[in-house]
Amino acid sequence: MSAPEKKSAGGPLASILALPNDSGKKTIFMAVAVCLVCSVVVASAAVGLRPLQAANQERDRIRNIVDVAGVAQPGQSAAEAFREKVESMLVRLEDGSKSDEFDVATFDIQKASKDPSMSRPMPKSEDQANIKRQPTHMPVYVVRGESGEVQRLILPVHGAGLWSTLYGFLALDGDLNTVSGLKFYQHAETPGLGGEVDNPNWRAIWDGKMIYDDQGNPSIQLVKGSVDASTPDAEHKIDGLAGATLTSRGVENLINFWLGEDGYGPFIERLKNERG
Ligand SMILES: Cc1cc2nc3c(=O)[nH]c(=O)nc-3n(C[C@H](O)[C@H](O)[C@H](O)COP(=O)(O)O)c2cc1C
Repeated sequence: MSAPEKKSAGGPLASILALPNDSGKKTIFMAVAVCLVCSVVVASAAVGLRPLQAANQERDRIRNIVDVAGVAQPGQSAAEAFREKVESMLVRLEDGSKSDEFDVATFDIQKASKDPSMSRPMPKSEDQANIKRQPTHMPVYVVRGESGEVQRLILPVHGAGLWSTLYGFLALDGDLNTVSGLKFYQHAETPGLGGEVDNPNWRAIWDGKMIYDDQGNPSIQLVKGSVDASTPDAEHKIDGLAGATLTSRGVENLINFWLGEDGYGPFIERLKNERG
């Protein structure tokens, strides 16, 4: 058999593989082949794992809501507690009315904030939380008592810290004023500084604090040093995070923004009126 016949029998692939290992042509071919195989594997994994990621995110959201609401019984899973105790609703922020314009179960605050049809640009003068765009609707979560009265209201909140936007949930008692929990589930503040928003001891300071002053304005203040019972207006004041004044100011601003007129204020007003 002649040499040209051998080449055509194996094809171009065989002829490249037959080259010596130090051949430039073979090295480039192998590098491109490895890149192609890896990109196919990575792309397939990204697409294939997407449903799993979405399910994990949903589980995480439910766990955080149940956590901040404090409704899970011992031995009960977060999913069960959520199903049994928590009512989800979508609120149109402008007037505080309930809405079914979007599906509350799949509502994604971060996606909505980027979608011009689901959010509005924030004028600088109103943008206390420094979020640039605000969703027109937000999901809220209610825990009711035996006679249907609101026992807990869980409100998603977000706003800028120093390095990142902090996303969390604030829980209020049935008086719609007293804080019963605060938990941030996503941020990129510095561990040990702004990241101390996750410290359970700091989070516990929030419990029992009052959002609104006598005029009904959100009045939370994060102050330098520690607050004790003798501090004037202690019910509105929280210890600032040591060495993290900018994150602390961000948290103060985002809470006051979301609980105010441009946030859940109209919705909270409606709940109070329904209660009579
Ligand atoms: C590496 C590095 C990371 C920091 N991370 C934060 C942070 O996450 N949040 C924050 O408020 N300040 C952070 N700071 C400090 C701020 O730059 C600023 O000095 C601080 O907020 C002032 O707070 P203080 O007045 O309590 O010291 C960081 C500083 C450095 C050098």
